[in-house]
Parts: sequence; C-alpha cells; structure tokens
Amino acid sequence: MRPRMWLLLAAQLAALHGNSVLQQTPAYIMVQTNQMVMLSCKAISSSTTRIYWLRQLHAPSSNSHHEILAFWDSSKGTIHSEGVEQKKITVFRDGSSFFLNLTRVKLEDSGTYFCMVIGSPTLIFGTGTQLSVVDILPTTAQTTKKSTPKKTVCRLPRPETRKGRQRRARLRFMKQFYK
Ligand SMILES: *[C@@H]1O[C@H](CO)[C@@H](O)[C@H](O)[C@H]1NC(C)=O
Repeated sequence: MRPRMWLLLAAQLAALHGNSVLQQTPAYIMVQTNQMVMLSCKAISSSTTRIYWLRQLHAPSSNSHHEILAFWDSSKGTIHSEGVEQKKITVFRDGSSFFLNLTRVKLEDSGTYFCMVIGSPTLIFGTGTQLSVVDILPTTAQTTKKSTPKKTVCRLPRPETRKGRQRRARLRFMKQFYK
C-alpha cells in the first residue's frame, strides 16, 4: 500500500477520534499572505521524542495527499523534508507542546496541518488545524457584529454507535497498514 494511502486513512481515522491525545490549536485560522502563523500541538505526555508535521492540501481530490513537512526529534532537532523551504518552517517544542511556525505564508499554503506521532500499535494524528491564506482578510466580522453566523452543528450519532464505528475503522486501517 502506498504511503499516501495509509496517511489518508489514518487522518480520517483521527478525525473520528473526538478525544485525540494530540490536541491541535487553533482548529481553524485565516491569515493574510506574507504573515506568520504559529500552530500548536499539545501532547498528553511529555515523553514524546519525535513528532511529525504533515499537511493535506486543500480541495481534496484524487491527488490530494498528506505531505510530511518536517519532524522534531529530541536528539536530532528539526529535520525538514526534502524540498521543503527550511527558512519557511520552524518546528520546536516547549514542554509537552509542539509548534510549527510558518513564515511568509502564500495562498498555496492553505490546507489542513496535522501533527503526528508514531504510536504503538498505530499512528496517532492530531486533531488538525485548517489554515486559510487570503490576500485580503474579510472585514464583515467587524461590520456585522450583531449577527453571529450560526455554526453548522454536526450531529453525532449516539456515543455507543460512534465508538463501534471507530473500532471498525481502526480495525480496517490496521489490516491495511500491517498487510
Ligand atoms: C513562532 O511564531 C510566534 C508568533 O508569530 C513568534 O512569536 C515566535 O517567536 C516564533 N518562534 C520561532 C522559534 O520562530
């Protein structure tokens, strides 16, 4: 199985987990081009020795995939993936929190960013941060303060059925990963 396939599966699996051990903040952020952005990933335990940062580009399509940008390792420090601009991405740690700084963001940096650890027996993905890079920030938020847009509420199935689905998805994923 190709790596991008299992990364996609694992990320979908992570999305099923409401209570990931890797909590990412913010969940959504809009930034103007050429600005800087800091994404955070908080781990439950501070014993994490290596954490990966991945990006799934927007507009999921047949060729959208997760690309590994860099990882932070307790002994090696920051290792950038091949082809990743080193000055643009900084990965660092503070206690049990991990950070990804992006400088001078471009429109094409829009996407969902995940932190990930290689757990046992499976990969553990963070909850994800959706980054939208725009040329001009919308100003409607200031002019229409009274009418807060209603959030689309995602109805979740009853907890027990949701758990069952997670378990089935996990099983499916593991079968594929360990083929
Ligand atoms: C990361 O970004 C934040 C906010 O933009 C900034 O204050 C901080 O100095 C940056 N840290 C590093 C190591 O680049």
